[in-house]
Amino acid sequence: TMPFSVYLQQVDPDLAGLLSAVADASVKLSDAVRNAPLRNLTGAMDTTNVQGEIVQKLDDYSNQVLMDYCKASVACAGYLSEENEGVTTMNETGSLVIAVDPLDGSSNIDIAAPIGTIFAIWKRKSVAGPILESDFLQKGDECIAAGYVLYGSATMLMLSVGKGVQLFALNSSTATYMSVNSNVQLPSIGKIYSMNQGNLSKFEQAAKRFVAHCTETDKDTSRPYSIRYIGSMVGDMYRTFLKGGVFLYPAYEGETKGKLRLLYECIPMSFLAEQAGGMGTNGKERILSLQPTGLHERCAIVIGSSALVDLYLSFSK
Ligand code: AHG
Ligand code: MN
Ligand code: MN
Repeated sequence: TMPFSVYLQQVDPDLAGLLSAVADASVKLSDAVRNAPLRNLTGAMDTTNVQGEIVQKLDDYSNQVLMDYCKASVACAGYLSEENEGVTTMNETGSLVIAVDPLDGSSNIDIAAPIGTIFAIWKRKSVAGPILESDFLQKGDECIAAGYVLYGSATMLMLSVGKGVQLFALNSSTATYMSVNSNVQLPSIGKIYSMNQGNLSKFEQAAKRFVAHCTETDKDTSRPYSIRYIGSMVGDMYRTFLKGGVFLYPAYEGETKGKLRLLYECIPMSFLAEQAGGMGTNGKERILSLQPTGLHERCAIVIGSSALVDLYLSFSK
């Protein structure tokens, strides 16, 4: 099987350099995650982030590591993170910008459950010099690469540079990623739905109708469907990519937005989903068509097997 470094030889050199940096950072993070209880990397910091959320020690550490590796990648011009309020200039002459969720699934850290890192990459819009907010306010359709790393019972890197989706597994003995699937296909149908159903009373009508459909008994369509919810988007999406189904964090009643962040959660996952033959919507529109207006903007998301996303859309009308 092909090492990740060999796979990168077919990728544009600037992008390959940044992807290699992100992969190297994730190898370091995978090791930190697996030893977190022994390295004082469990538990919370005394600060909150720009979202007003409690920052875990591992959130902060992951952000520091990613910043260091991205800065060392000369093609990386700018960095946006869930953990930083504004954008950070990395290399003024670089051509690329990266938006990251350094540590996704923070509530899983202290219970040794699956967590991950999510990222999306664009070409910068400004020509050179300090990076601007507008360099990041680009649609998902303009992404040139997106991916995530899952720190689960194995460490998996799922990546797309716009030519389908490739999956790599980390060999922890050699600290190298190896290709395990060069053409990931998200099944078009599925029998699993994944959401925080405890919040159902807060969600829009379409979500309530969708859950009513999923929980109804109907032999012909194998209903009721099963619910699976890990509580980290990376974990829930990895299952969705492999087994089919749908992951939802729907819009709250009377709002268009949900909990998850557009630039570093919803866009990268939707880019991967579409590249694998699936769909990603906010309940009304394709996520990749949305024009971002804020760095930490939130977005509703319904993502996964096309049959189930279409079904949700039919309840949205
Ligand atoms: P993060 O840890 O980066 O803040 O993201 C957590 C996200 C996502 O991973 C997960 O799907 C969702 O929040 C879980 O939210 P609930 O606890 O509301 O179910
Ligand atoms: Mn997250
Ligand atoms: Mn996070």
